[in-house]
Amino acid sequence: MLAKKIEKALNEQIRIEAESSQFYLAMASWAETEGLNGVSQFLYQHSDEERMHMMKLIRFVNERGGKAIIPALTQPPKTFDSIKKVFENLLNHETMVTAEINKVVDVCLSEKDYTTHNFMQWYVSEQIEEEALARTIQDKLNLIGNDKGGLYLFDRDLENLQTEEEGA
Ligand code: FEO
Repeated sequence: MLAKKIEKALNEQIRIEAESSQFYLAMASWAETEGLNGVSQFLYQHSDEERMHMMKLIRFVNERGGKAIIPALTQPPKTFDSIKKVFENLLNHETMVTAEINKVVDVCLSEKDYTTHNFMQWYVSEQIEEEALARTIQDKLNLIGNDKGGLYLFDRDLENLQTEEEGA
C-alpha cells in the first residue's frame, strides 16, 4: 500500500507530467502554424513522451493500491514570440520538472518507501537526458542567432532526428 504522503506526491507528479504534455502540445501546434515542420514534429513527439510519463505514474499508483487522480489542466500559451523562446521555455520547464522529481524522491526516502524510490529512478535518469537535449538545442539556437538559413537547417535537422528515432 502507498502511504498517503507518497500517493499525494505521485498525484502531484501526474499533474505536472500532464501539464508538460499540454505545454509542449501548444508549442508543437504553434510551430506547425509557423511552417516549422521539424520543430513541430519534435515537439509533438515530446508531448507524447510526457503523456507516457504521466501514464506510467497513473498505472504505478493504481497498481500499488493508491488512487491516481486525473487532473484538470491549465490553458497553455496560444502563441510564442520566437522559436528561441519556445526552447527557453522548454528548458526552464524541464528544470522545474527535475526539481519536482527530486522532491518526490525526498518524500520516498523520508517515508522509507524503497519501492517507489526505485520506480522514481527511471524519472531521475530521464530528466538528465531531457535537460541535456534541451541545452544542446539551446546552444544550437544561440549559434544560429537571427540567421534565417540557419533556422531552416535547424528545422530540417530536427525533422531528420525524428525520422532517425522512428526508424530506430
Ligand atoms: Fe516528463 Fe520532460 O519530464
